[in-house]
Amino acid sequence: MATAVSSRWEVTDVAPKIGSSIRTDKATLLSGERAGEIREIMERRGVIVFPRIDLTDEEQIAFTHTLGTFAHEEGEGAAGKDTVYPITMDASINPIADYLKGAFFWHIDGTMSDKPILASIMSARALAPVGGETDFCNTYAAWDDLPQPDKAKIEKFQVVHAMWRSQLYWKPEPSFAEFQAWMGRGANTLPLVWKHRSGRQSLVLGATALQIEGMDIMESEALLVKLRDWATQPQFSYRHTWTLGDMVLWDNTGTMHRALPYDHKSGRLMHRTKLEGEEAFA
Ligand code: SIN
Repeated sequence: MATAVSSRWEVTDVAPKIGSSIRTDKATLLSGERAGEIREIMERRGVIVFPRIDLTDEEQIAFTHTLGTFAHEEGEGAAGKDTVYPITMDASINPIADYLKGAFFWHIDGTMSDKPILASIMSARALAPVGGETDFCNTYAAWDDLPQPDKAKIEKFQVVHAMWRSQLYWKPEPSFAEFQAWMGRGANTLPLVWKHRSGRQSLVLGATALQIEGMDIMESEALLVKLRDWATQPQFSYRHTWTLGDMVLWDNTGTMHRALPYDHKSGRLMHRTKLEGEEAFA
């Protein structure tokens, strides 16, 4: 007699303009049967929470493969073994923990590349007793709701992004040697408004945004701050308070994110995998 396989699948919105939660089971996720639907929800809602799904590292890697092309970390090369990447302030676990401090400020991953990663998937392995939530905001919705005159003013602007800019947020007075090392991580000029293949548009902002090309520095700074402030308003945002075993997937091309402060000695540990970018900034 055939046994019925029960597969749980409950999708609910967690905030009006960003974020859905999917309550399901491991088998359903790992089968890849729902991959198309997950990608559709990811693009439409920006963030998907899988509460207490408790995937192992191997399962998280397998799940990532169901959604697209697994992205290796910088320096690993395409031939690198598929692994999870530790997000932690503990330098004995991640030797470049200091560099990850840029993540405490709103950002998009991969602004030094013309084709940023499509998505990140992060699981909570150890929590900080206080703080350490992750904030997300929807940069599609932020663009959509901008008043028309503002859209017309900014839609053709290009912005210089530099990795060092995001590092200055946590260390405003680096040594020259440190600053040069940051500079070695690159700079890139990107459109302020990304016109996606889908026809949708999103804002490209964040801690790496240095200056709007051709604009006076004071005016540029004021506009970048104004737009960041606009895009991160409560109506476009979702704050995820982690429970052990939660996994969160986000569309890196239509959101910004940041970690909230926590004690760097707390042992907070997240395991991240990523999906290769599929579309260049345009
Ligand atoms: C990240 O910016 O990728 C990490 C965010 C977090 O640790 O909450």
